Amino acid sequence: MRKKGMRFSLGVGFLVVAGLFFVWEGSGLPLQSGGMNPCSSYSEEREEMDSLIEQGETLWKDSSLSTNGLACNSCHAHGANLNTTVPFPHNVEMHNRIVTLDQMINICMTIPMSAEPLGWADSRLTALNAYYTYALEQRAMPGEEESANPCGGMPGSHAGWTDQVTLLPAKDGATLSGNLSHGARIDLDWADNSSIACWPGTENENFSGSHVFYSLEVPQEAHSTLTVAVQPEAGVDVSVYAYQIGIESHDIPPSIFRAVSCEAGYDYKTDSNPGQSEETPALVAIRNSYNVLIGVAGANGEVNGAFTITLHYETKD
Ligand code: HEC
Repeated sequence: MRKKGMRFSLGVGFLVVAGLFFVWEGSGLPLQSGGMNPCSSYSEEREEMDSLIEQGETLWKDSSLSTNGLACNSCHAHGANLNTTVPFPHNVEMHNRIVTLDQMINICMTIPMSAEPLGWADSRLTALNAYYTYALEQRAMPGEEESANPCGGMPGSHAGWTDQVTLLPAKDGATLSGNLSHGARIDLDWADNSSIACWPGTENENFSGSHVFYSLEVPQEAHSTLTVAVQPEAGVDVSVYAYQIGIESHDIPPSIFRAVSCEAGYDYKTDSNPGQSEETPALVAIRNSYNVLIGVAGANGEVNGAFTITLHYETKD
């Protein structure tokens, strides 16, 4: 028995060493591929992942997956009944056992959905897993995002954002003046989507005017905290929000499908406070750096009015 245990741990040791080699080699590759575009395979993988996530979102809301008219979203809308803070595998109370994400998807397929489990090679299982992992869990686990990507926006090329986005220096105290008249009213459905959750839909009135977009000249650093304050001119009521996304993405509202986190500053409920400043709670970057999109929005349909935006940016070193 003793010998067997020994061989087993040697085997595991070998796998760990082999795994380290693989990771090391893998991370070296994209930068070494000479004349070829080092970003192409990355973006193909990204595209495949994006398409899986989209399929996953569709399946998540598809009641034809079940035999009883329910969809995953019937019980899990806005993250209900989901523990998105602990990575899988973990104990799920309903089952009272430690399970993987795939096992949990199939437990829900067979019990609450009264359907056949999805086969291990079924791409619908991959899609549901991808959607769950990237769209739902990522929001609560910013530390699990992809590592730094050399193919993200480069400074000088407007950092990869469209011209609608004005760049601010990534410095504490950086300030800039703007006007709501430079933006436009936008659809607000994205904001209370459970994979973004900037503010509840009941607060949309605070964001119903023009939106003006900002970002940083470089992504928010790992180990940093960012808050954004906006001071409007007298008589103008504004709100502000900011979200973190991976440094390879440059999505702006309303075409934003998922964010690592989003924070908003606005006058809660229907109180209006023209002329007063609003500030977002802190956007914290723990282990990774993120692209940040900042939106200044007019409240109560406001489309005109000057404001000043100020960053409070604390970096560890
Ligand atoms: C009839 C309601 C219902 C439906 C429909 C349903 N679930 Fe669940 N699901 C639950 C409940 C209840 C839990 C358990 C929560 C607990 O015990 O912590 C759960 C747990 C989960 C978990 C684990 C959450 C955790 O704690 O980590 C996942 C993942 C999950 N469901 C995915 C799905 C997927 C995917 C579908 C659709 C294929 C689906 N569920 C359909 C009710 C439902």
